[in-house]
Amino acid sequence: MTKKVLIKTYGCQMNVYDSSRMRDVLAPLGYDETTSVDEADFVILNTCHIREKAADKVYSELGKLRDMKEARATDGREMLIAVAGCVGQAEGGEIIKRNKGVDLVFGPQTYHRLPELMKQRAEQGRAVVETEFQVERKFEGLASAPQAIGSVASFLTIQEGCDKFCTFCVVPYTRGAEFSRPVAQILEEARKLAAKGVREVTLLGQNVNAYRGEGGNGPESLAGLVTRLSQISGIERIRYVTSHPRDMSDDLIAAHASNEKLMPYLHLPIQSGNDRVLKAMNRGHSVSHYMNIIDRIRKARPDIALSGDFIVGFPGETEEEFDDTLKVVADVGYASAYSFKYSPRPGTPAAEKTNQVPEKAKNERLARLQSLILQQTATFNASCVGKTFPVLLEKPGRQQDQLIGRSPYLQSVHLPSDGLKIGDIAPISIKAVGPNSLSGQYSPIT
Ligand code: 5AD
Ligand code: SF4
Repeated sequence: MTKKVLIKTYGCQMNVYDSSRMRDVLAPLGYDETTSVDEADFVILNTCHIREKAADKVYSELGKLRDMKEARATDGREMLIAVAGCVGQAEGGEIIKRNKGVDLVFGPQTYHRLPELMKQRAEQGRAVVETEFQVERKFEGLASAPQAIGSVASFLTIQEGCDKFCTFCVVPYTRGAEFSRPVAQILEEARKLAAKGVREVTLLGQNVNAYRGEGGNGPESLAGLVTRLSQISGIERIRYVTSHPRDMSDDLIAAHASNEKLMPYLHLPIQSGNDRVLKAMNRGHSVSHYMNIIDRIRKARPDIALSGDFIVGFPGETEEEFDDTLKVVADVGYASAYSFKYSPRPGTPAAEKTNQVPEKAKNERLARLQSLILQQTATFNASCVGKTFPVLLEKPGRQQDQLIGRSPYLQSVHLPSDGLKIGDIAPISIKAVGPNSLSGQYSPIT
């Protein structure tokens, strides 16, 4: 008899990848996926701990699930509840104490052992908490390619963890030390994805450009890995996120000039545009170092679309220091960017600081920054109108005979299907800009 699992994913793309691998691990146990909680025999929350809001959502969701579980118990129906991901890793047994409905808690490094944990739960009749770090064994324990592919574009985790210890960030505690998967393992996964029709892979890592996986003759860099991946037939497009300015090596910048499969898009967070704040964040680079990378990458690939992350209201940040962030944004000209109010995270050094910025100032700064970023995105999108570029067609649109694809610059593009099909990479001429996407038309080169 098949059972149903609902996996709710929060947070970053790495969690999206992990959720798809959890589906693979559960399939041999007879679990099919569902999107309806009423149907689910097993609910997994794959959680994020990066900001307080993200973690809070988990507890409110768990409250609702516990009520459902109790209601079902009166009908003699079971419901298993698991907390996976970074809240699981960071809070472990605390979760069980706060919510008695939870059966399993595990971190991002232990989901390959899910069947064993479920068995343990059934045998011992009480909640199981497993938050060990075993990244290496995790990847070895997973099948070599995700089964659950619904798209022609796929994520592929190549690196996990972080050794940089930015003072605001929980990642080194939730995902552990930097670990890179061996090249051969990644190539095998990519080949299997290509055989299933995947044409674009996005390489994932918390510090993806710090990649140093075993390549046969010693460690390989991200640029070297990209070269080897681009030799796989079927894989037409390669992207990578998220990069750290300290690891933006010359060979990677050069790859943007020489490798056509490497898409002209770079997500390179700076977090703040002020050197004192960068130092207090322990970022290990200055504003001028960052601007120098931007100059060099633009020389290598003039049309590259840039993206970044920003934190406003880091402890002690003054109005003038925040203005420096606005200045960097104005100087760089981003195609898109993410900005967040600083959120103190338990166990991180910045959370202990007594000079926290009041909420009101954080709100004002965020609004100013976001309005500048929105303007820049609008400018970038408008600059695409009238241009023709290759779009990878990913899914049907909401209207009949409409397809949705991605531009090289990661914009969503809507177009009439015109005989095209999902998986095609077709020249599309951009006609107009909508609120969250571009619209265009097939424009075959004659
Ligand atoms: N508060 C606010 N934003 C944060 N980020 C990471 N930690 C925090 C925090 N404590 C942001 C950074 C990072 C992105 C993934 O989330 O900008 O790049
Ligand atoms: Fe959130 Fe970071 Fe964990 Fe991703 S790695 S889910 S961003 S805490």
